[in-house]
Amino acid sequence: MLGQNRDVNIVVGVTGGIAAYKTVHLVRLLTKGGHDVTVVPTADALRFVGLPTWEAISRHPVTTSVHEDVARVRHVALGQAADLVIVAPATANSIAKITAGLADDLLGTTLLATEAPVLIAPAMHAEMWRNRATQANIATLRERGVHLVGPADGELAGGDSGPGRMSEPEEIFAAAQALLAPGDLAGVRVVVSAGGTREPIDPVRFLGNRSSGRQGAALAAEAAARGAEVTLVSANISGDVLADVRHPSIRVVGVGSAIQLAEVMKREAAESDVIVMAAAVADYRPVAVSERKLTKEGGGVPAIELIENEDVVAALASARRPGQLVVGFAAETPEDEAELLARARGKQQRKGVDLLVVNEVGWERGFESAENAVHILGPGGAVAATVSGSKRAVASAIWDAIGRER
Ligand SMILES: Cc1cc2nc3c(=O)[nH]c(=O)nc-3n(C[C@H](O)[C@H](O)[C@H](O)COP(=O)(O)O)c2cc1C
Repeated sequence: MLGQNRDVNIVVGVTGGIAAYKTVHLVRLLTKGGHDVTVVPTADALRFVGLPTWEAISRHPVTTSVHEDVARVRHVALGQAADLVIVAPATANSIAKITAGLADDLLGTTLLATEAPVLIAPAMHAEMWRNRATQANIATLRERGVHLVGPADGELAGGDSGPGRMSEPEEIFAAAQALLAPGDLAGVRVVVSAGGTREPIDPVRFLGNRSSGRQGAALAAEAAARGAEVTLVSANISGDVLADVRHPSIRVVGVGSAIQLAEVMKREAAESDVIVMAAAVADYRPVAVSERKLTKEGGGVPAIELIENEDVVAALASARRPGQLVVGFAAETPEDEAELLARARGKQQRKGVDLLVVNEVGWERGFESAENAVHILGPGGAVAATVSGSKRAVASAIWDAIGRER
């Protein structure tokens, strides 16, 4: 159940679609669950289900306008006090307005004023749903961290069928429940490094590696979804990968080289409960960085002399506070599984990390792909889990393993 908690304030925005009648049942489910529900319809929504119905089932006055109850600054107060805002049904028109940030009615101002999670349940004809304008709006809302439930594929109001049917009230209720339940990482501060460092040779060239940062970004996204406050230290991760993990609880700090990464990680580690070093940090850097681009003009092939970089994860592990947990990563190219695990255990010991996640990499494996396969070594080198699948699924298993050690 949703916690039988009258202190939980839920705003249910209702917009002008036939599915508004189903939202009556959703409001019943939420109030029966013990929650305080305020319904905020649009003017068009009231053409489908009238004001007395919303007032009677929510037991609160209902208005569409920002000009009522002005003394209590209702146009921002509702959003500020909300623990969750649901928009069901969300018409194509309202989705466009929310995306644009319009605030010409009480629902618009409430959505702009809230910092609570927002869950929208789109409902419209299939053509309207598939329209590129609607799809672009939905993509933007997803990027901003708005949660979506549905639409389902099924019979629509005009008798035709396709994607666009609002999810059933029980399904919206379950999605709300998941958003309200405190995650297992609520209150935990996490720093995740991800991507690959670049060691400058001259102003245009660097020594780099093939890490895309997808696994680290998935770890950050999963931690945020479980309630953690996350700092993602991004070493050269592309905008596309970062856009996929945008979340109000993720702060991204960009770094370039191993030296910069070490400096930022040490600073962030001081404020963190869990340190996850998923970034591929260069072992070596050029001794000298040329101020000017190296050219062929002088003849000969330049020799690049290298010097060892600091082992950042080992430094973080040896400086960790009691209760702080350090997770290292190893990418290996072994002959076989036994060598993979032996190398991983050696690394775990040398670096002094609590958990070590090891994956096999190669020309075709591990890097840049959406999937991954890892072993997670727990304290003492025992295999705590072996997981393969999407990088998000792997991230979930890693957080489960971290959870068991905290
Ligand atoms: C009978 C009827 C049903 C409608 N159903 C929907 C719908 O399911 N989804 C939608 O996006 N628009 C639907 N519309 C169009 C919206 O009501 C219209 O775009 C309106 O401006 C939405 O206003 P609102 O988003 O401010 O509530 C419907 C219109 C009518 C007359």
